Amino acid sequence: MPDRAWVPAATGPSPPQVNASWLDRCLKLRDRLLTSARFQRWAAAFPVTRPVAQRRARALFDLCAGFVYSQVLLACVRLDLFSILSESPQTTTQLAHRLSLSTDATVRLLAAAASLRLVERRSHQRFGLGPLGAALLGNPAIAAMVEHHGLLYADLRDPVALLRAPRPQTELAGFWAYAGVGRPQELAAEQVSAYSMLMGASLPLIADDILDAHPLHRYRSLLDVGGGEGAFAAAAAGRAPALRVTVFDLPAVVERAQARFVANGLGDRAVAIAGDFHSDPLPQGADVVSLVRVVHDHSDDAALQLLRGVRRVLGDTGRLLLAEPMAGTAGAEPVGDAYFGFYLLAMGRGRPSTADELRQLLRQAGFGRIRLVNTRRPLLTRLLLAEGCGHRK
Ligand SMILES: C[S@@+](CC[C@H](N)C(=O)[O-])C[C@H]1O[C@@H](n2cnc3c(N)ncnc32)[C@H](O)[C@@H]1O
Repeated sequence: MPDRAWVPAATGPSPPQVNASWLDRCLKLRDRLLTSARFQRWAAAFPVTRPVAQRRARALFDLCAGFVYSQVLLACVRLDLFSILSESPQTTTQLAHRLSLSTDATVRLLAAAASLRLVERRSHQRFGLGPLGAALLGNPAIAAMVEHHGLLYADLRDPVALLRAPRPQTELAGFWAYAGVGRPQELAAEQVSAYSMLMGASLPLIADDILDAHPLHRYRSLLDVGGGEGAFAAAAAGRAPALRVTVFDLPAVVERAQARFVANGLGDRAVAIAGDFHSDPLPQGADVVSLVRVVHDHSDDAALQLLRGVRRVLGDTGRLLLAEPMAGTAGAEPVGDAYFGFYLLAMGRGRPSTADELRQLLRQAGFGRIRLVNTRRPLLTRLLLAEGCGHRK
């Protein structure tokens, strides 16, 4: 099967001749106007076009400056500013002391963070949590994501070089240790702990959205393939008291899952089975299989093989839940196409797929009825359900 990535031929055929449509001509005119400095000056001054011109200028500036905003956020996270402000609003002098920064540096950081709605000015010259700082504090996984972005930041230092020759030895390839090794089943505990913890911490929000969109009470037995340290399986078992759950993952990772099941008191209806899903058969007996954030970091060929393996164990009556952020998600286009596109490029494997591309892959793997189910936050995850031909549930 051809890879989804478009690969130009070294000396390719010349592009087909296309007659410029009226739409092409309109867009050409628009582009000419927008690239004209005179038009930009006029549009910024003319009352009717001014709001649009200002919004566009701001959007462009944000694109240019986004990495600075991210680093302001990183400084806040590293200094634990949001936890400190959650105790009570504080003055600059108090904060300078708590953060071990000079007063000038504190004022600078707080002004930057306030402009980004991370913190907020309060009465009596104090600062408190801003709406985004409070939301971040309520979801500790975001701080963990922000911290690990240091690796991605290093890998994206020269984006053109990365596009031209994705380097196997990127920081992210080292972090996601299974992505760059021939025998991932030999990875040691310390090679899987950082990514497993990050996934485990960021899973609860996603698990809620998936399980709200498609509750699992109607099933007997869930197999979570690439289920990491068991966070999704544990959440599913917590909501459906009769459901038995199995996690299938690499040996070093399933040890972590087993420990979580014991800690959650799920010992009698949760098991973790070790293996390599590229070379070992998947465990039999589940009537529902989940692949949560697994398919997108594999090549098409590898994903197809994996889906065929899932189709085999599900038979004609089981159901697959495929959940991950997807490219082309309305309102979240940059999340799939820009963020995950470049994230996976740096990681060295996979790319975000659209829901339609995944449907096609599922059909090739032998799945029948495939439907996209609405989730609360499609930005975080979307959900495809796929069935064998004789499905009844
Ligand atoms: C991106 S993580 C997702 C984990 C979990 N499903 C979640 O959403 O939190 C991918 C998972 O697939 C597992 N994995 C990768 N390659 C594997 C392989 N060849 N065999 C079994 N598991 C594998 C990893 O260990 C990791 O736990």
